[in-house]
Amino acid sequence: MEETSLLWLLFLISLLSCTTSQASLTVSPSSSQLFEGQSVSLSCEEDDSSAGWTLRRNTTRKTRTQCGDGWGRPAGSSCKISYMDPLDSGVYWCESREGATSNSINITVSGGPVILQSPVLPVMEGEDLTLHCKTKTSSNLPADFYKDGSFIRTEPAGHMTIHHVSRSDEGLYKCNISSDGESPPSWVSVTEKPTTTSPPTSSPPAPETTSDHLHLVIRLVCHLVVFCPYCISTFIMVSLYRQRAAGNDLPVSMVMTPPTQAEMGLDEDYDDVTTEHHF
Ligand SMILES: *[C@@H]1O[C@H](CO)[C@@H](O)[C@H](O)[C@H]1NC(C)=O
Ligand SMILES: *[C@@H]1O[C@H](CO)[C@@H](O)[C@H](O)[C@H]1NC(C)=O
Ligand SMILES: *[C@@H]1O[C@H](CO)[C@@H](O)[C@H](O)[C@H]1NC(C)=O
Repeated sequence: MEETSLLWLLFLISLLSCTTSQASLTVSPSSSQLFEGQSVSLSCEEDDSSAGWTLRRNTTRKTRTQCGDGWGRPAGSSCKISYMDPLDSGVYWCESREGATSNSINITVSGGPVILQSPVLPVMEGEDLTLHCKTKTSSNLPADFYKDGSFIRTEPAGHMTIHHVSRSDEGLYKCNISSDGESPPSWVSVTEKPTTTSPPTSSPPAPETTSDHLHLVIRLVCHLVVFCPYCISTFIMVSLYRQRAAGNDLPVSMVMTPPTQAEMGLDEDYDDVTTEHHF
């Protein structure tokens, strides 16, 4: 009888532990490089705000510091930095109380005259990649673009687009505006395209879709359980109470002092209990 409620508790705990919620970090303005003095807003877009997501960063000076802890102004699960300094360059991410982490974003703050604007999030294979070389005052000057230290080409208006990127386009990019100077380098990562979504109509739904559905169902169950802890605890308490009420006779007879000779004669069952007590 006790085992059933124990099983229920275990079931509940395992369901609760599967609700490791997720968050993704977004940055506004969406650029991997910023000029010194620009303001920036970083948000943890979470699916469960109760998980307590906070923004953290690693810089060359300190690691794993939290927004508000010497830098930034926290506002819920967002963080605003009103004056970006080159020392604010680093990797930023969201972290929940349980230690789950979001995607991370590299931000470089330049004290120089030129920045390269590249996507903060990985680019998916087959998509277009646009890089933008600019100064504080002008965004359409001719610029030279470099990848992994090698010159690619000069773009007359400072924008370079690479169509249908492949994994080989991943690398460290920078640009140079001859009248002003060079930008810091930024890493652009290219992620593999999920194979099932590439042909829009032809291929039938692959096993991935079924696992997606399964994932969805699990999440739904998780959320239902999370949103009704009251119902669950009430259920457990009621079932425990009923067991106690139902099992009242048995435990009492177990703790009874050994019955007298007369009582033993009355009931065969009590006889068994007392013999057990003698072991
Ligand atoms: C931040 O720094 C810590 C300590 O050096 C390291 O373990 C961690 O992986 C870093 N995080 C990121 C996202 O780079
Ligand atoms: C951040 O930059 C480092 C080196 O520049 C690179 O190895 C890493 O993959 C980058 N992280 C992200 C999330 O782009
Ligand atoms: C940037 O352009 C200027 C002028 O063309 C040149 O002197 C300088 O060497 C270039 N920098 C790099 C890193 O190529």
